[in-house]
Amino acid sequence: MATDRVARRALDLHHVTVSYGPRPALLDVSVSIEPGQLIGIIGPNGAGKSTLVKAILGFVEPDFGTVQVFGEQLSRAPRRIAYVPQRGAVDWDFPVRVIDVAAMGCYGRVPWWRRLGPSEHREAEEALNAVGMLPYRDRQIGELSGGQQQRVFLARALAQGSEILLLDEPLAGVDAATERTIMRVLRNARDQGRTLLVVHHDLATAAEYFDRLLLLKQRVLAFGPPATVLQEDLLNEVYEGRLRSFTHAITGEHEAVSE
Ligand SMILES: Nc1ncnc2c1ncn2[C@@H]1O[C@H](COP(=O)(O)OP(=O)(O)O)[C@@H](O)[C@H]1O
Ligand SMILES: [Mg+2]
Repeated sequence: MATDRVARRALDLHHVTVSYGPRPALLDVSVSIEPGQLIGIIGPNGAGKSTLVKAILGFVEPDFGTVQVFGEQLSRAPRRIAYVPQRGAVDWDFPVRVIDVAAMGCYGRVPWWRRLGPSEHREAEEALNAVGMLPYRDRQIGELSGGQQQRVFLARALAQGSEILLLDEPLAGVDAATERTIMRVLRNARDQGRTLLVVHHDLATAAEYFDRLLLLKQRVLAFGPPATVLQEDLLNEVYEGRLRSFTHAITGEHEAVSE
């Protein structure tokens, strides 16, 4: 039955259009995402990648179109999605310990009148361990490096236990070791059947890292296996010649291309 098929999809966007001003940031975006996939969202600066993530989360209201999460309206499924924002969007001076940030992932699963107990702290510790940050559990979040902060926010999303994870440029500005750790954690989450949408800025690693790529520039220009999306002509058009050399970018012979 058609409805069964819809219900099994992790995400369904139908004709989603979002505007902040006169020109839409997203225009007529329709895409269906099966569960258990690791999906990279690529596209130039200002393409609407963050807006797409925010529309899926319900943080911005579409002018038009609908977002369904496992076949339900978004408002009925808020706990099914975890979010790791772009790093610049977070106030790092906020005085809070690493363990408390990770444990925040458990709020929402615990009734408002109950304090987080030992079992939530254990889950938060497990999530910190998965991202290699357990030794820092009592440090202040503001004292950590950018890559370490990013790993703590990933732990918080893991502790939430959501089926869908949305991450906005989790690899931007992190060191190589953190990049490897984050990708390992994302693949493990995918292997557990979770669905991950990851905004990614580096075309050189896009094919290696993701099962599917979604190429966005206001509209969805391509969605599918990396080999079908990473077409030289298409990318040159989308990035308007700002790719120094596409061939070198995807073979990794040169420094990674980023915006
Ligand atoms: N809060 C906002 N108010 C006004 N314009 C915005 C806002 N957020 C994003 N935009 C605009 O919407 C477009 C898409 O932005 P964004 O989704 O952040 O793109 P990306 O993440 O791909 O760089 C850009 O033109 C950006 O300037
Ligand atoms: Mg963005």
